[in-house]
Amino acid sequence: MSRAAAPLDPVPAGDQPAAPRHVAIIMDGNGRWATARHLPRSAGHERGVEALRRTVDAAGELGIKYLTVFSFSTENWRRPPAEVNTLFALLKAYVQRDLGRLKAEGVRIRIIGQREGLPPDIASLVNKAELETSGNTRFNLTIAFNYGARDEILRAVQAIARDVKAGVRDENISESEFAAYLDTSGLPDPDLLIRTSGEFRISNFLLWQAAYAELLFCDVLWPDFGRSHLEEALKSYNERERRYGAVTPGAG
Ligand code: IPE
Ligand code: IPE
Ligand code: MG
Repeated sequence: MSRAAAPLDPVPAGDQPAAPRHVAIIMDGNGRWATARHLPRSAGHERGVEALRRTVDAAGELGIKYLTVFSFSTENWRRPPAEVNTLFALLKAYVQRDLGRLKAEGVRIRIIGQREGLPPDIASLVNKAELETSGNTRFNLTIAFNYGARDEILRAVQAIARDVKAGVRDENISESEFAAYLDTSGLPDPDLLIRTSGEFRISNFLLWQAAYAELLFCDVLWPDFGRSHLEEALKSYNERERRYGAVTPGAG
């Protein structure tokens, strides 16, 4: 019997580093945070950017090397145009305001998601942020913007089909070759996936990459999230046993 391609990249069970290498966060609850305070939803999104700043700083200090945050989904286009505009304007303002500092602090910025359909000013800002920080290695901040995992997987399949047709590659493809066609090419899989706001769903985030991520759902609304919540999440992560389908060494 031939051996199925095994995802051998993850750290073997029982041999885990103290901090997860890659943490991914679904930053949810901005709207409810604002509504609870009789504020417009946009105020929640603004405070959400502050939470992002706190979290990026804390993640670096806590020894995390990769942080990936879900900022705007392909499904978020279903929201009223004014809210979509606010979310685009906030991404632009965040990159414009923080790029210099992040660059100086050794942060490599990547944006994942569908680039087509982004307004040209955002598309060029995103390219600039990626280019200017491409030599940085201390910390990796990836922003999922106009991102949907099904869309990402479909685009990968389309690119593979094009390459096969052009004779660039044969049709046999391994897991690692497939992963190289995804937006997250070059990034390790997330070890820990956090969702704030008390919702228990993935909402089309990193469906391929999070196959063996530890999931953590917390009640805090994203604008309230900070270092202490991240520390709590890491504590919970450290108490888990990742088995990757194997059995615990020495069990039974
Ligand atoms: C997260 O907060 C931000 C985005 C999804 C863009 P929400 O805007 O989803 O806030 P809730 O879930 O309505 O409270
Ligand atoms: C997921 O949150 C997307 C982002 C955080 C960007 P949503 O608020 O859009 O997810 P649903 O609609 O509750 O599943
Ligand atoms: Mg939400």
